[in-house]
Amino acid sequence: MLWKHTSSRQPSVKTMPAMRVSLGLSALAVLSLMATTASSEPLNQLEQRGLELSKLHCARCHIVSEKDRFTGTSASPSFKIMIVALKDWDDRFDSFMARNPHPAHIRLEDDEPRPEHLPSTIHEVILSQDDIEAIISYVDRMAADLGHPRSE
Ligand code: HEC
Repeated sequence: MLWKHTSSRQPSVKTMPAMRVSLGLSALAVLSLMATTASSEPLNQLEQRGLELSKLHCARCHIVSEKDRFTGTSASPSFKIMIVALKDWDDRFDSFMARNPHPAHIRLEDDEPRPEHLPSTIHEVILSQDDIEAIISYVDRMAADLGHPRSE
């Protein structure tokens, strides 16, 4: 194979910093495989409901629990890695509905339906305020267990 002979193509020390800068949120998805597990008390009812909802509505793209590490897409960081790696994880989760790519397929149940000529291009998810509260409660619990509690 040709590439074996073109060792000059390998990243040199000089190009490395540039590559590091280009790592976005999606690269965090890969790092999540390297994170460690914390053991803890069983989830309370609201947290458990949040876990179920996360599995149902978020696991299509994100790894939402250490027990289900094989869900998600490589473009989406796991919940855990966002908590561990992002200082403002709480702000981001609190506003995930408004953050891309979510508005393209998730909406609040009280929102107007999408206009017929602008449908969601992937399976649409409709959440209630209670659903969101449960999901956030699950994420808060996960963060507390990971030693990264929400900043109040
Ligand atoms: C269709 C795929 C998909 C689904 C379903 C999905 N997400 Fe995401 N989400 C993504 C992608 C892709 C990103 C990374 C966006 C980026 O790189 O900026 C992301 C990013 C996020 C972020 C970080 C946002 C930011 O701007 O920092 C949060 C928080 C999040 N998702 C929460 C959720 C929650 C909670 C659910 C379930 C209710 C969910 N996501 C469902 C694809 C999805």
